[in-house]
Amino acid sequence: MAVRSCQLQTALFQPRDFVQTSHRASAVRFPSLTGSSYPSQSQSVSPCCCRAVLSTPILKDNGKQPQNQNETFDDEGRVFNFAAGPATLPASVLKQAQAELYNWRGSGMSVMEMSHRGKEFLSVIQNAEASLRSLLNIPDDYAVLFLQGGATTQFSSVPLNLCKAGDAADYIVTGSWSDKAFKEGQKYCNAKVIWSGKSAKYTSLPQAGESSLTPGARFLHICANETIHGVEFKDYPTHLGDTLLVADMSSNFCSKPVDVSKFALIYAGAQKNVGPSGVTIVIVRKDLLGNAQPITPVMLDYKIQADNNSLYNTPPCYSIYICDLVFSDLLEKGGLEAAERRNIEKAKLLYDAIDSSNGFFKCPVKGEVRSLMNVPFTMETAELEASFLKEAAEQGMVQLKGHRSVGGIRASIYNAMPRAGIEKLVALMKSFQARHSS
Ligand SMILES: Cc1ncc(COP(=O)(O)O)c(C=O)c1O
Repeated sequence: MAVRSCQLQTALFQPRDFVQTSHRASAVRFPSLTGSSYPSQSQSVSPCCCRAVLSTPILKDNGKQPQNQNETFDDEGRVFNFAAGPATLPASVLKQAQAELYNWRGSGMSVMEMSHRGKEFLSVIQNAEASLRSLLNIPDDYAVLFLQGGATTQFSSVPLNLCKAGDAADYIVTGSWSDKAFKEGQKYCNAKVIWSGKSAKYTSLPQAGESSLTPGARFLHICANETIHGVEFKDYPTHLGDTLLVADMSSNFCSKPVDVSKFALIYAGAQKNVGPSGVTIVIVRKDLLGNAQPITPVMLDYKIQADNNSLYNTPPCYSIYICDLVFSDLLEKGGLEAAERRNIEKAKLLYDAIDSSNGFFKCPVKGEVRSLMNVPFTMETAELEASFLKEAAEQGMVQLKGHRSVGGIRASIYNAMPRAGIEKLVALMKSFQARHSS
């Protein structure tokens, strides 16, 4: 059976029109959760088309000697890095950046040394924007901004730009990041949580009819993928009337196609799927620019940034350059449809290993909303987990410790994590279980 595309899932909605009035709260509609893009165990997936760039077991003279034939260090001592962000980048991108570091394309300079207003860097940022527009099919009436301050700064920028002080704004809180967005939003608007997954330890998403918009709410904020808890929207709320849909896509940005036109604003810190830390991408409908609250710092005013093509002040040039390389790499590898196929296949390997372990490994997240990007799992005791993490590190699989707030194990398997890394992890899980099952 073919893997279903996320793009088809809007068909799962009941097409009942939503009319927002100022007198009553209205139901936000959520997709049927059976529309997950993560295939169940009974579904098969097509063969992987992703190149396993780090799969060759090679001895290395970096002071670490692999302990067995299955070691994953490549000939330059690189590991499989399962970090949640900053995260692993495509090997080909790093190699290109390395080759271009000292003298970028004959300019006689590194990108780090260029004027951000010179023709060389302008070509970089313009190419980055063009490639991103092509990848996500971003309509012309949306501005693309390359900003600083991380996604955390957007927690403030969004209400400052979209609301007047005192406007109502709704938040769906599905984990730590959307909770932080809500708490920051409270400073600049009348922010309200209309659904929270806290009581279920953030292992689920709202289902149809479970939440209602506040009448007149200026926007509804969601976190498309909760990096710490591993829950991911497979499709997005609809029937919002005049309420604007805003999404923090930091940890699943460019991992799959997205219909940008459904959103008023999308933002994402780059350091998971598309680049290094230091640059935050904002995609915002142009008609929403120009209404920032008077207290808005100049750097957070989207109109000022858009009018200046993200060059109001000195931007994070090198980070933008790496994003440009990553976008080109994604385009070369078939765009976001192909990226999504690879991500589904990789996630399936790992979730299947967890689900077929007879409870030795447990993923707390409900099947339908499991993230393709961040896979949390636990074992019976903290001692077992510590021992597993130690063995993993010895075998060149690092940064697998769960976030300090939730513990356990978390494998972040973004676009650039090779399938070979997940196969290696799954092999360790099986051998570890065999050795530790009573
Ligand atoms: C979903 C999500 N939102 C926001 C943030 C905060 O990002 P930053 O550190 O770039 O401010 C993170 C960081 O991991 C995240 O995963």
